[in-house]
Amino acid sequence: MLFNEPSPLETKVLTRRFGLPNSASIDTYLAHEGYQAFLKASKMTPDEIIGEVKTSNLRGRGGAGFPTGMKWSFVPRTSPKPKYIVVNGDESEPGTCKDRVLIENDPHQLIEGVLIAGLSVDAHAGYVYIRGEYRYIIEVMEKAIDEAYAKGWLGKNIQGTGFDFDLYVHTGAGAYECGEESALLESLEGKRGVPRIRPPFPAVVGAFQCPTILNNVETYCAVPAIIRDGGAAFAALGIPKSGGTKMTCLTGHVNRPGVYELKIGFPVKQMIEEVGGGIRNGRKLKAFIPGGSSCPVLTAEEVEGATMDYDSMASRKTMLGSGGVIIIDDQTCMVKAALRIMRFYSHESCGWCIPCREGTTWLKKILTRFHEGGGTRNDIVLIGDIAKNMLGRTFCPLGDAAAMPTLSIVEKFRHEFEDHLNGKPCPYEHSGTMVTV
Ligand SMILES: Cc1cc2nc3c(=O)[nH]c(=O)nc-3n(C[C@H](O)[C@H](O)[C@H](O)COP(=O)(O)O)c2cc1C
Repeated sequence: MLFNEPSPLETKVLTRRFGLPNSASIDTYLAHEGYQAFLKASKMTPDEIIGEVKTSNLRGRGGAGFPTGMKWSFVPRTSPKPKYIVVNGDESEPGTCKDRVLIENDPHQLIEGVLIAGLSVDAHAGYVYIRGEYRYIIEVMEKAIDEAYAKGWLGKNIQGTGFDFDLYVHTGAGAYECGEESALLESLEGKRGVPRIRPPFPAVVGAFQCPTILNNVETYCAVPAIIRDGGAAFAALGIPKSGGTKMTCLTGHVNRPGVYELKIGFPVKQMIEEVGGGIRNGRKLKAFIPGGSSCPVLTAEEVEGATMDYDSMASRKTMLGSGGVIIIDDQTCMVKAALRIMRFYSHESCGWCIPCREGTTWLKKILTRFHEGGGTRNDIVLIGDIAKNMLGRTFCPLGDAAAMPTLSIVEKFRHEFEDHLNGKPCPYEHSGTMVTV
């Protein structure tokens, strides 16, 4: 099943098999170059594989954008401990819905990417950690793993290469925090999903205290194409220092929401107008979230000339993140948008560190009161102060993820907070034109 109608502006690398009959089956995969990259990689040295991934300029697609080849090179290959490959399929960031599409339509591409990662660091076991709410995706993944075992693409001596690899599905239980890599590892080990202090990083001390490659679903899915066509070909699709395509989740107030595979560096305006079909109901853009709800919000003016890549977003003091674009139209109350975002982070804070646990709770309370008409001028300052005091003061970046969008909304849409004080309660809702995000 397709998530949405494809756009002619897409560059189909990871999605090239989407839409084929039974695209998730191993037979379809094998009939369309499936597992050929693994066979190619099995004849390469680990350094050659990692070198190709470095050449591709692939950066992690889970949000932080760390260079993948460099991450793989940190694994101490000569360590006598077992090494593990862990797939982060927790996908819980509001706005982000791409990993489920990749698994649903082409799970063997993910398995092949994991196998190649295994070859690169001499790992022989891996785990696909999938968000617990994705019941049907878990079934697709388990079926694909069964098929791969049955046809000799997992297990002992895969296709006579002498390489053994076992892959397991592990399901989450509905905690956003378990997408954070160290909390994910705790959860995988059967413990409460709270973050670990770092260093050491997972590459050195990861799953079961052993060296571990941990990447996002999309990151692994890019690897077969990199090995098949060469890292340089993948790099050439993007911009300098950032190669390939990005699965972009176009959500919010657009006419054609969906998940689209776009070249890194795709112009934002063109994405909204031509891929997404423009803002719905002929409305205007008010705000733009580029990569999931944890990213600072951009105004319509700031979007001018922006492209969907790490540098362009960093120059505007926001992030490409996980590619979860949220389009917000001019009928939206930005105080309510901030509240909606904070409700999520307050609910999902794992409670491990105080600035995050207390900060998100108080921000939710203040924003709720403010939006309902009980706000004071001092609250505007207080919201900013609490958010600033969370930044950089937590074990994991969930605290930052809650603080950054809040700060950007208070700073860039302060006039809407003022409007609430003058027209208590929410003047936007009062006029009957309020649209929630
Ligand atoms: C609270 C929180 C939630 C996260 N959720 C996810 C997630 O669902 N999927 C994901 O791949 N990365 C998530 N991340 C980022 C991971 O910690 C990690 O950076 C990523 O999985 C590394 O893979 P990559 O290098 O391929 O991006 C999250 C981070 C934080 C702080």
